[in-house]
Amino acid sequence: MRTSLQSVIKDPSLAPEGRLKIDWASAHMPVLNRIREQFEREQSFKGLRVAISLHLEAKTAYLAKVVQAGGAEVAITGSNPLSTQDDVCAALVEDGIAVFAKYNPTPEEYHNLLVKTVETKPDLIIDDGGDLVTILHTERQDLISNVRGGAEETTTGILRLKAMDKEGSLKFPMVAVNDAYCKYLFDNRYGTGQSVWDGINRTTNLVVAGKTVVVNGYGWCGKGVAMRAKGLGANVVVTEVDAIKAVEAYMDGFTVLSMDEASKVGEFFVTVTGNRDVIRGRHIANMKDGAILSNAGHFDVEVNLVELAELAVSKRTVRRNIEEYALKDGRRIYVLAEGRLVNLAAGDGHPAEIMDMTFALQALSLKYVNDNYASIGNRVVNVPYELDEQVARTKLESLGISIDRLTDEQKAYLDSWASH
Ligand code: ADE
Repeated sequence: MRTSLQSVIKDPSLAPEGRLKIDWASAHMPVLNRIREQFEREQSFKGLRVAISLHLEAKTAYLAKVVQAGGAEVAITGSNPLSTQDDVCAALVEDGIAVFAKYNPTPEEYHNLLVKTVETKPDLIIDDGGDLVTILHTERQDLISNVRGGAEETTTGILRLKAMDKEGSLKFPMVAVNDAYCKYLFDNRYGTGQSVWDGINRTTNLVVAGKTVVVNGYGWCGKGVAMRAKGLGANVVVTEVDAIKAVEAYMDGFTVLSMDEASKVGEFFVTVTGNRDVIRGRHIANMKDGAILSNAGHFDVEVNLVELAELAVSKRTVRRNIEEYALKDGRRIYVLAEGRLVNLAAGDGHPAEIMDMTFALQALSLKYVNDNYASIGNRVVNVPYELDEQVARTKLESLGISIDRLTDEQKAYLDSWASH
């Protein structure tokens, strides 16, 4: 359904470029295309309002159009001030979607755009990092009773939701999309692994082979970043706070060091922990001249830019998305994309075929929560396994890959504790 709401975007005349980007992405998203056909047929969201906060680039735009094809009136905003693409926003407005987003708004504008999205009085939400949920539970509680539920994209958002669930303050059900197999195994690992290096490479235009790359954090995203750094020929060092993940990184063939040690040897740093102050003044004090710092965690808190600025005598932009901090002793430290998600703020995010599975899960989770919100209750729930499997099977079909099925004898063998 087309909206009559007034959008807030940078420039409507950019729509043709945005449309080309969306068409390219959607042509590489066969799983989501299948779901679009289902939603169109069933009109799964007829008469409902859906508010979305996600990194507003072409693949996300296509998800918004799929939800709209299911009969919803859709409002969308970004989930990071630097990941919104203005041409994509313009194309969506032409398609009758309400867009409240622009590239690089001030912090106050950014917040107001989120609030405007919430003020469309959604029945359902899709969130990335928990901003829509937080606004609904704090400054716009008056709109909360209208919300049936929603789905959350990322590890960071799910941590926030679980804290709310634990203290009993969550007021509607949320599906933890990040925790589905078809999300974290592929999006977090292969998506982040590829898109982070895409962002760093296109931004710096420097060689990675032979250099020392420090990956802070060995969760699913960190594993992907480390694996692809190795593939590019880097010497990879991993830092961790979790003993099990540290052993895993060691057995995967990486050097494991404390950050105090790693900070002395790194040439590229990628933080991917979801926590704050991973790189701070005492680490920067150790770093080599020319060290390049980047972040792939959801919020821009992982590199402590305040402590970096305190150590610096000057700062200048030396290339798009690269800031040079000159330190008192003459060393130069470079920060990519202001310490925001390097793959989205200095790139286009994960490849389309990866976001195909992630957004298929988002779309199916939104339908699931809409069909079941009364029985789920105000909790954080996992994506049902059948939906996860449906996405994997459709993906395999789209790739022309068939897999085997258990015979009846094999099923009986697995089910029987006495046979061997
Ligand atoms: N594109 C849209 N959302 C994204 C996300 N969460 N990560 C990477 N690329 C994306």
